Amino acid sequence: MLKVNGIAASYGKVQALREVTLEVHQGETVALLGANGAGKSTTLRTVSGLLKPSQGSIEFLGKRIDGTKPEKLVKEGLVHVPEGRKIFPGLTVVENLYLGGAVHGSSMKQMRTDVEYVFSLFPELKRFTNKPGWSLSGGQQQMLAIGRGLMAKPKLLLLDEPSLGLAPVIIQQVFKIIRQISAEGTTVLIVEQNAYMALRVAKRGYVLETGKTVLSETAESLLSNQEVQAAYLGGRH
Ligand SMILES: Nc1ncnc2c1ncn2[C@@H]1O[C@H](COP(=O)(O)OP(=O)(O)O)[C@@H](O)[C@H]1O
Ligand SMILES: [Mg+2]
Repeated sequence: MLKVNGIAASYGKVQALREVTLEVHQGETVALLGANGAGKSTTLRTVSGLLKPSQGSIEFLGKRIDGTKPEKLVKEGLVHVPEGRKIFPGLTVVENLYLGGAVHGSSMKQMRTDVEYVFSLFPELKRFTNKPGWSLSGGQQQMLAIGRGLMAKPKLLLLDEPSLGLAPVIIQQVFKIIRQISAEGTTVLIVEQNAYMALRVAKRGYVLETGKTVLSETAESLLSNQEVQAAYLGGRH
């Protein structure tokens, strides 16, 4: 479904990606791991069209997409939930969700159905339907950010650090939903510093180091890899 072939990308003079190669097949959940600054977010930004690679190529559903505008990619089902749960704090929960539907071009009728689906996944959000985004807790904002992504009808959902800054019990809830989304057929590429959680939902994973893919293995073998354990899993778990 997604093929990233040796991409490089820079922010002005700062080269963030040197050679990132990865693949995500239809129906899979794949984890992208790596230390802070390794290039995980930049990889997602480049895949979703926010940055243009200076080298390499990206294919989505069999077509070259590097250089394609993010608005167009969203309509084709490539949906990015960015780092830091960027919801609109001044808009209500339901307005934030409608924005997700709007980027897909959904009708009002479709959006109402989709909002109910999001509320069925995140019953906690329903109580806040007409409350502004800023009044939500960090965990609820993350749920809203994922919900808004789902409103855009993803074929491939790119999730950037959904566990960042959340309490352990909330992280469990968010990952339970990610598992459910994936079981319902959405393909997911998840970036996480919480490698342990990510590898429990993912089937396979990649490790990035300074803008380069250095490992590509099954989740099981990454979980038992001693170097990965030492670097990203806090030793034994
Ligand atoms: N907007 C930016 N401008 C300049 N450099 C950036 C910017 N965003 C990220 N970088 C740099 O690019 C590299 C990769 O960053 P990033 O993709 O955010 O890493 P990760 O998500 O793995 O923590 C880092 O060296 C970071 O400092
Ligand atoms: Mg990041």
